Amino acid sequence: MTDTATAPQNTPRDILVTSALPYANGSIHIGHMVEYIQTDIWTRFQRMRGHNAVWVWADDAHGTPIMLRAQKLGIEPQALIDDMKKEHESDFIDFQLSFDNFHTTHSPENRECAELIYQRLKAGGHIVTRTIEQLFDPQADMFLPDRFVVGTCPKCGTEDQYGDACENCATTYDATELLNPRSVVSGAEPIKKDSEQYFFKLNNFETMLKEWTTGDQLQSEISNKLQEWFADGLQDWDISRNKPYWGFEIPDAPGKYFYVWLDAPIGYMASHKHLLGDNQAEFDRYWKPDSKTELVHFIGKDIAYFHTLFWPAVLEGAGFRKPTAVHCHGFLTVNGLKMSKSRGTFIKARTYLNHLQPEYLRYYFAAKLNNKVEDIDLNLEDFAARVNSDLVGKVVNIASRCAGFITSRFDGVLADALSDEALFATSVEAGHSIAAAYDNREYSRAIREIIAQADLANQYIAEHAPWTLIKQPGNERQVHEICTLGINLFRNLVIYLKPVLPSIATQTEAFLNNEPYQWADAGTPLLNHPVNKFKPMIKRIEAEAIEAIVSDSKDDLEKEKAATATGPLADDPIADEIEFDDFAKIDLRVATIVEARQVKGADKLLQLTLDLGGEQRNVFAGIKSAYDPDTLIGRKTVMVANLKPRKMRFGMSEGMVLAAGPGGSDLFVLSPDEGAEAGMRVK
Ligand code: MSP
Ligand code: ZN
Repeated sequence: MTDTATAPQNTPRDILVTSALPYANGSIHIGHMVEYIQTDIWTRFQRMRGHNAVWVWADDAHGTPIMLRAQKLGIEPQALIDDMKKEHESDFIDFQLSFDNFHTTHSPENRECAELIYQRLKAGGHIVTRTIEQLFDPQADMFLPDRFVVGTCPKCGTEDQYGDACENCATTYDATELLNPRSVVSGAEPIKKDSEQYFFKLNNFETMLKEWTTGDQLQSEISNKLQEWFADGLQDWDISRNKPYWGFEIPDAPGKYFYVWLDAPIGYMASHKHLLGDNQAEFDRYWKPDSKTELVHFIGKDIAYFHTLFWPAVLEGAGFRKPTAVHCHGFLTVNGLKMSKSRGTFIKARTYLNHLQPEYLRYYFAAKLNNKVEDIDLNLEDFAARVNSDLVGKVVNIASRCAGFITSRFDGVLADALSDEALFATSVEAGHSIAAAYDNREYSRAIREIIAQADLANQYIAEHAPWTLIKQPGNERQVHEICTLGINLFRNLVIYLKPVLPSIATQTEAFLNNEPYQWADAGTPLLNHPVNKFKPMIKRIEAEAIEAIVSDSKDDLEKEKAATATGPLADDPIADEIEFDDFAKIDLRVATIVEARQVKGADKLLQLTLDLGGEQRNVFAGIKSAYDPDTLIGRKTVMVANLKPRKMRFGMSEGMVLAAGPGGSDLFVLSPDEGAEAGMRVK
């Protein structure tokens, strides 16, 4: 199954490759690009080895978030997903991804495949219906999808969380578990109502899955994680959602839709079908249970569960082949932290492309990626330094040191011999190990070994200094052979880097009058061969470009807010993210306002006496424009109790009262619900 260095081209493999389908509700960012560049490098490498690698994928165009996003923008979901598909596809092309088909899950092919799979699962006894309690909006007269309910997290108490998961503590739960739930549609409190749902009996596949998940299809980290899930027991999987839902209606079940995660992986199949048109025989050759072809998925660690349990079980149950491999990668961090909109490190693919060529990021990710499920970090300083030093300073430098002589002294024709056959042989030999590294997705090792070869070449050229030799008459032949070796070593590096840097390979092919490089071309040197005038294939990264990317990413955030938010949030955007520890330092307390009076000579302030249940504080609050002091007396509010006392013109202020609003008469002092007592900590 693996292409070892010793048994290469003679047995071409048929490999169907996929990447996880990006959601069609937002732009592509550089986190996505980790996976898509990883897939591209692997696919291009396999093709260079003479294998038939076909890469199909799509936009994931269904589900509630897409419906909500369209609603917010005031457009139809269809219009949203059409726009997104165009945007995504052009990002991918500009990143030089070599996919064969980018389709959408909202397609006739996907409907056909999803319905077929569902019918077969049903006929095989793998679907059951069960009545469960779901939240229903009595005012809007509809069942509420998870994302149509907000309320307080049952685990950590954070307010305004959606009905599927808490953004604060990452707990996932059922919408019925939310405290104080409200419908997003009407604001009404939802009631629980019985609803019939369709379930996939995952447990029917336990034996198969236990075996399949411990085979060499999966990385050991994933296999181990799966054992925990087996230990918890395989639950039936709810594959249906009530209307309104943006997706495919389930055949024979009016008002019920396939859950987005049912038809999303089927999108791989549908994209392949779309690519093949009516060539059903070729489709079957790939998808029949005993297929000799390979099916290889690239995914992120967050979606392993869907790809290593549900998906193989669904395929098996519906009479299709199972994946040959599911390759899982970790998440991207930037400068050591989660990508953040406010720090300007949530970088969209397009924002990057507006300032830098794709080659740099492709190279950097390759230099970082391995075949483990580890997170990888894009350190923006290291990024520029590494790319400049390796690509410009080492690889391209070899050609620029040698090419000039070939043109100016030797009529643009390479010598008929190399100055050091052994060094060239070392470069050819290195190709075996580099190939094995690519095949095994150890790209960082491949890059390390390639750069080690570049170092050898530069060292050789520095030691033999053709620029000095050429000054002595009689050394022409030697200089010619040294430079011919240099050019050939450079050419091998470019061949080895071609999966990562296809455009540099294309330019080199033109420079050296070569056909598109295949991996095996590295074995044969170019001798007595005409070359063209050399132009450097790549420039250094300038620090300004990176600064511009970060600053534009901050602007992206502002624009996005302006496009989707109206009212206070748009006028006064959320401040920079803080750590929990920063928040925990603030001691907020319930306090009773026991006295309130005007302050002589102050036009904004009222003087308050706040009781903390045993201790009293004197506080000056800038709320005069909105409150008559008498109306405040006796009322409870929230204060910052550990704020360092501040000396003001009128006296000491020993804390701060919390109020919301833009100012003037629009100022609202916060008060706790009935029952809160003075002195209670607000958490
Ligand atoms: N639509 C689903 C996948 C369905 S596949 C049948 C989805 N979409 S996604 O847009 O959220 O993510 C697409 C891929 O990008 C996933 O594999 C995900 O792991 C990956 N990444 C998203 N953000 C990422 C990082 N910050 N870092 C690395 N990969 C990331 O999940
Ligand atoms: Zn929570």
